[in-house]
This record gives sequence, structure tokens and C-alpha cells, in this order.
Amino acid sequence: MSNQQFIPLSVPNIAGNEWKYVKECLDTGWISSVGAYVNQFEQMVADFAGAKYGVAAVNGTAALHIALLLSGVKQHDYVILPNLTFVASANSIKYIGAEPLLIDADPDLWQMDLDLLEEFLENETDEKNGELIYIQDGRRIGAIMPVHILGNMCDMDRFLSIVKKYPLPIVEDATEALGTSYKGKHAGTFSPIGCFSFNGNKIISTGGGGVIVTDDEQLAKHAKHLTTTAKASVDEYYHDEVGYNYRLVNLLAAVGVGQMELLPSFIKRKKEAVAFYKKSFEGLADIRFQKELPDVQTNGWLFTIQTDQQQKLLDHLNANKILSRRFWMPMNKLPMYKDCVYVQQKDNADYIYNTCLSIPCSTSITDEQLKIVAREVKAALR
Ligand SMILES: Cc1ncc(COP(=O)(O)O)c(C=O)c1O
Repeated sequence: MSNQQFIPLSVPNIAGNEWKYVKECLDTGWISSVGAYVNQFEQMVADFAGAKYGVAAVNGTAALHIALLLSGVKQHDYVILPNLTFVASANSIKYIGAEPLLIDADPDLWQMDLDLLEEFLENETDEKNGELIYIQDGRRIGAIMPVHILGNMCDMDRFLSIVKKYPLPIVEDATEALGTSYKGKHAGTFSPIGCFSFNGNKIISTGGGGVIVTDDEQLAKHAKHLTTTAKASVDEYYHDEVGYNYRLVNLLAAVGVGQMELLPSFIKRKKEAVAFYKKSFEGLADIRFQKELPDVQTNGWLFTIQTDQQQKLLDHLNANKILSRRFWMPMNKLPMYKDCVYVQQKDNADYIYNTCLSIPCSTSITDEQLKIVAREVKAALR
């Protein structure tokens, strides 16, 4: 074991005005559910993404839950979802009493496989009374949730051209993709509602937090209403539907405003880390990278490599105090989702899970740490 300091995977980087803004909340008592920072944070995220409105939520999972409700997903519906995603995407579907319908991953992009999606929609669904039905059991498919895995994106033109043939609302899980765009259009704005997350490992963090973005004023108002207990009167506790206590508090939004000011520099640093690693690993026989399409500009959120020596590399990095993580376990491997319909041919999600490792790429990572990680990855695979 070397005597170097532990190198984390992707940790928050509090480097700007966060302290100042939080102190202001504490000094003025505006720490809770309303306050100027909430509005400012919402607008900053919306502006950055090129959307008209932003609605803050306690976390990305809550944002997705609200987005699905607003898209009309109902109990017993299916929602099409990549099998390879973080569990929160699937959970947000379950909260409504709906069921994920899983599609395998593309072997190169690691996003939802569009060939499988197209085939599935063509051959296994039908339209009845303007609704999309899964032929096998007659259940409605209420929405599709593409997830921009690791801040990358699929061929969105093709995705949209496939989906638009069907009555199938899109809810984008862009939780990992703040700073990612396709042909210049920001992730989260390809559907009427998109969602971002600001948990501890995301490109910016509010500790915990999320934002829904939309161009539709009515949807934005309704999202705000649902996240704030659906209170319909200013001075009376009159609530006109079942709402949620999903507000992001002003104290955390203050952190978010400080973080948003730093976002361009964070994206730059992530990209530097990606470029450094790719160059360092050039020519290594047993390392492959996630493919990026020429039309996609990724935010470089979580640098992940693919190798057939996954366990050996993981053990070596751990022994050298370098935090490395496997991908999320695919949804069909989890007890709650093991019986979900799973559209696949080769189970690429399983292969990706068994071969991929994310390696340190915090925005605060030093050049020295990047060199140590690259050196140890090479040493393990030599
Ligand atoms: C793909 C994906 N979906 C949803 C979420 C949920 O976000 P949060 O942790 O803010 O609830 C995350 C992040 O954790 C995620 O990576």
C-alpha cells in the first residue's frame, strides 16, 4: 500500500460564493422553503439549459416523480426505461404504481439501444383509442424515460424520430447531464419536461437537490404546485390535490447559486480529466471508452473505462487508495425489478456492468492525482 492520500471518485467542490450566500440565508433567517435563492437557482439552471422555466425539488428522484405525474403516467402503466440506469429512475416510476419496461443498453454508447427500442415499438405494441398498448398483456405504455447515462447522449434525432410515431410522452432523466448537449441543444430540453440532480457526486451539488426544466408555463406552474403540497390559497391551508413536500430549501438553493457560477469551470475541468485519461490510456489493449457521437458534447461527468480485467483493476486501485466503482447493477438484477419485461438480445447491460469501472474525476482533482490514477490503472493492466 502506498502512502499517498486517498483519491475520491467524484466529490463536491465548494470553491466559490457558496459560503457567502449560505451565511446570508442564516443571517437573514431565510433558510426554508421560500426565498430569493430558490427562484434564482431555478432560473440559472433553466437559462443554462436553454429552457424557459425551472422548478426546484428536494432531489432528482422527486423531480422525476413529478415529471412522470405531469406527463400523465398512471398506476399500472408501463414506462419504457433503459435497463442500465441508476435505481432512482425506476423507483420514480414505481412511486406512481407504474412498472418499468426495460430495454437493454447499446454496447458502445451504453445508452438505451435504439434498434431494440424501434423493433419493440414496431412489433410488440399497438395503438388503441390514441393510447399505446403492450400487446402481450394489454397494459398501457404511459411514457418513455431516456436516461443520459454518464452525461452522454444517444442519437437524439433518431430517438425522436422513432418515438414520435407513437402516442408516447417523453420524460428525460437528464440528472447526470447538466452541461451536455446534442447538436447544440441541451440535455433535458428534448422532452416537454426534463430533470437534473444535484446530489453529492453530480457536476454541481447542493448536497441534495433537483430541478425540473420545461418551456411550458402551465407545466412549470403545476410542477411548482405539486412540489409545494398543492396549496391553492395564500392565507388558508386549502390544498386542491395530493401534493408533495418536495421543495428545495433556500439554504440549499444558495449553495446551488454558488455552484452554478462555477459550472463552466467545472465542465472545463471534467473535460481536461477525460482528455488526460484518454491520452494516457491510448494504445492499451484492454481499455475501451464509452463511445461519443460527433453531434454530442458531453459534460464528462463520470469518467468510466471498460476492461475485461475489472476485478483485478478494482482491487489494485482500492489497494492504492484510489476509489473506483462498478456501474450500477442493471435494474433486472434487483429484487424489485427482476420480473419486469426486459427487451434484450445479448444482455449488454450485464456485460457493461461486469466490465466497466468509473475512476476519479472530481472537478477538484489535481494534475498530480490524475497522473497517479493513470499510472496505477496502467500498472494494474500491464
Ligand atoms: C440516472 C439517475 N437518475 C436519477 C437520479 C436521482 O437523483 P437524486 O440522487 O438527486 O435523487 C440519479 C442520481 O443519483 C441518477 O444518476
